[in-house]
Amino acid sequence: MDVILDVIVISTSFFLTKFFLSDLVTNFSSHLIFSVIVWGFFSARLLQKQNLNLRYLFHSVCSLAIWTVIVVLLGAPFDKLDDLMSVSLLASIYTLPYTFTSNKKQKSSLHPSLHIVLLFGWMLYLIGLGLGDVTDITVKGLETVRKCEKVFLEAYTSLLLNSELDTLEKYYKKEITIADREMVESQSELILDPAAAQDVAFLVVGDPLGATTHTDIILRAIEKGISYRVIHNASIMNAVASTGLQLYNFGDTVSICFWKENWKPTSFVDKIIKNLRNGLHVLCLLDIRVKEIDWSKMVRGKKVYEPPQFMSVNTAVEQILEIIKDREKEDREFLNEDSLCVGIARLGTDGQVIKSGTLKRIATEDFGKPLHSLCIVGKLHPLEGDMLRHFAVDKSDIPVE
Ligand SMILES: C[S@@+](CC[C@H](N)C(=O)[O-])C[C@H]1O[C@@H](n2cnc3c(N)ncnc32)[C@H](O)[C@@H]1O
Repeated sequence: MDVILDVIVISTSFFLTKFFLSDLVTNFSSHLIFSVIVWGFFSARLLQKQNLNLRYLFHSVCSLAIWTVIVVLLGAPFDKLDDLMSVSLLASIYTLPYTFTSNKKQKSSLHPSLHIVLLFGWMLYLIGLGLGDVTDITVKGLETVRKCEKVFLEAYTSLLLNSELDTLEKYYKKEITIADREMVESQSELILDPAAAQDVAFLVVGDPLGATTHTDIILRAIEKGISYRVIHNASIMNAVASTGLQLYNFGDTVSICFWKENWKPTSFVDKIIKNLRNGLHVLCLLDIRVKEIDWSKMVRGKKVYEPPQFMSVNTAVEQILEIIKDREKEDREFLNEDSLCVGIARLGTDGQVIKSGTLKRIATEDFGKPLHSLCIVGKLHPLEGDMLRHFAVDKSDIPVE
């Protein structure tokens, strides 16, 4: 309701000042009157909601002052800009202080600048890059990145396999800021606040919502009143069909983490067995550890990071075999060293590797560089069997129906 009211008030006051005042006062004055009306309206609204604070008043006065200085220095830029441009400029100047400051207590959904912004369609775009290289972005994704003022690359849930950062920057013709886990999870305002006054792209390898938790940043954007759009792309979650295993026949996806000396989770095997009991295949996503703090090397509060680690198919299979060797017979009936699996590496790139076979055979196969995933095979459809035979290290591993 608030937004509709804002649209009505802003557009009415804009047209009134433009058409009724422009003959009486200068173009600059009419815009100034417009901005004062809008500012007064939002202040009144905030006052009514008991949310008017000194900070807002201070920022608005500063904004108007900056605006006046610009006009004086440049000599009424309105004469040179069309109306939409000049109002956009005004709105961005209004929002400028908020772009560089964060006010955690104030709910941004009440924030006047954000209501103005809605009129101009500024967005947070979550854009999938696909699995292979820089050219896997969709046409829509590419056009959007190029029009965005700020571009962030989420760099901790996956890895764009065949392209370095500078290749991306050259291809997209944009400077890219790396967004690590800390920035996305604890300092999301660094991404969201600019999106209140500019188009911002948040690039994610694969699909932005495929096997990642970026609904979290979407929820925070909604809370702040920032519009968002998702531009999808291929994900490991659908490209896994390249193995020949049909997506319809998959159960819950499982994540396998690196074991530490005193932390060896085994519950993922329960989830695998539960899927297998229902005849369903299981996609296992393998741990990625980037920018993890090495606590043993912390020097005088200075953070030292561990080198990046990407779990291989071999490590994942070793962990599974280690866990099931101590399991009861009824679990081992469904998952044992002769169970069928498919190891996958660098799916979607020219150098992709897919190999099928029993767990004990795949355990020693070389899959090369990251990223790797593993599928544990449930009940096989004959067509799936044909495909697995095509990828088999030894065809005798794959049963003939
Ligand atoms: C958290 S998921 C990220 C998913 C990504 N957003 C997507 O839509 O594909 C990361 C895991 O997916 C798997 N993965 C992603 N891309 C892969 C690829 N091209 N080949 C094999 N495994 C891949 C790896 O196991 C990796 O650790």
